[in-house]
Amino acid sequence: MTQDEAKQLVAQRAAALVEDGMDVGLGTGTTSTMFIHALGARVKAGLKIRCVASSDASHNLAASLGINILTLPELPQLDLYIDGADEVGPQLALIKGGGGALLREKIVASASRRFVVVVDSTKLVPTLGRFPLPVEVIRMALPLVQRQLADLDLNPSLRRQPDGSPYLTDEHNYILTCACRSIPDPERTAAHIRSIVGVVEHGLFLHMASTALIADDDGVRELKP
Ligand code: A5P
Repeated sequence: MTQDEAKQLVAQRAAALVEDGMDVGLGTGTTSTMFIHALGARVKAGLKIRCVASSDASHNLAASLGINILTLPELPQLDLYIDGADEVGPQLALIKGGGGALLREKIVASASRRFVVVVDSTKLVPTLGRFPLPVEVIRMALPLVQRQLADLDLNPSLRRQPDGSPYLTDEHNYILTCACRSIPDPERTAAHIRSIVGVVEHGLFLHMASTALIADDDGVRELKP
């Protein structure tokens, strides 16, 4: 099974978790895009739900598929949030934000009673950190934050667009990508990063996921923290 086939399988399984009357958070990224398409097909077949998205891209996609999509201020409490991850470590500690949407993803996840993370099995790791950790930063604070992340040996670099201009998030902030290599103590790293003035949010999602659905050649299995 290819990675895309595994993502498709787990996206379909996640769409089957959604029930009539639910308020659902929509993630961002390729797996979430497949999930939103699968959900759109269920809505077309009569499923009645309301949704909030974690990015402009997912919001627009859901709207184009006829999904009833609102904003978080309109729907501040959600039953279920479905999203992918870049890495899934022990206790379902996650690195997210490879798509640049970590801030809104964390907000929507924290507004949801359940957060089901959907990944192919290549995302499972014994220790987080091989995937570069994104940190969202207020633009005027960039040099200050970059220096302090470097002092923590987190090897930050500014995320750029293919044309070389700085990447801007949906909230118009910069992203510093940290080549940490290994994050043996995610709580400690998260606390260090959070203490830096000018950091808006980081891509470590700790104690947030309720369940992980993991797809590989043997099908989909479920992991709990
Ligand atoms: C988006 O900002 C991310 O958090 C994604 O959820 C994560 O990068 C996983 O993306 P894929 O589903 O594209 O692998």
